[in-house]
Amino acid sequence: LGRTIHHHESLPSTNEKAFRLAQDGARHGEVVVAEQQTAGKGRRGRTWVSPPGLNLYFSAILRPGLPPQRAPELTLVAAVALAESLRDAGVEAAIKWPNDVHIDGLKVAGILTELSAEPERVHFVIVGVGVNLNSQVEHFPEELRATATSLSLALGQPVHRARFAASLWTRLEEWLDLYLDTGFDAVRARWKALSSTLGQDVLVRTDRHELRGRAEDIDPSGALLVRTAEGSLERVLAGDVEQLRP
Ligand code: BTN
Repeated sequence: LGRTIHHHESLPSTNEKAFRLAQDGARHGEVVVAEQQTAGKGRRGRTWVSPPGLNLYFSAILRPGLPPQRAPELTLVAAVALAESLRDAGVEAAIKWPNDVHIDGLKVAGILTELSAEPERVHFVIVGVGVNLNSQVEHFPEELRATATSLSLALGQPVHRARFAASLWTRLEEWLDLYLDTGFDAVRARWKALSSTLGQDVLVRTDRHELRGRAEDIDPSGALLVRTAEGSLERVLAGDVEQLRP
């Protein structure tokens, strides 16, 4: 991963760029990095605040040879690698389902996975990662200040971007190879150990409905299993999770 790096000063979105490169034949493991994004994309139509020079914004092009329904597992592979590299850097990072990475309950990184596929076959997957490394409070827009943080804010010192990127890409490659060789089980176990969501009371918002309950487990495909007050077990494949305080 990252042996071929497409580096840009400024892009609308590294995911968009990676998608086009993949359509034009870019190979598995090529990475697109930008110093800043002018239209960084978050999940569910949101934007990812991407000021220049401070943070890490990249997208990896993957050709994993998976059926499309297994593509979401790649997001969890990336979340595990992210949480581990943040822990290597000295903070207590945790994963909030499915793919937010938090320090002390504040979001430090996010992942946006997009795919091009036919019903039976994935052409390619774009795994886009944004990590707040050196953003200070004043770099965040007002509305994010209560919920966002950066590695530098958590450590109280500046973070060396290239070094962090190298460590993350190494981790990502290790977990990806293990996943592609042996399947999802090891990733799932590690994800659970790094999770702040399991065992919590949660409010889940999906495109269609809201659901309250206790986050019990993730199933073999990475879906969140929520036990409702009525006792039923609901399977959530995609959505936003709010962790409710008891
Ligand atoms: C989220 O938590 O909502 C996902 C955020 C993903 C942001 C990254 S930054 C690099 C890549 N390019 C994008 O446009 N988005 C992802």
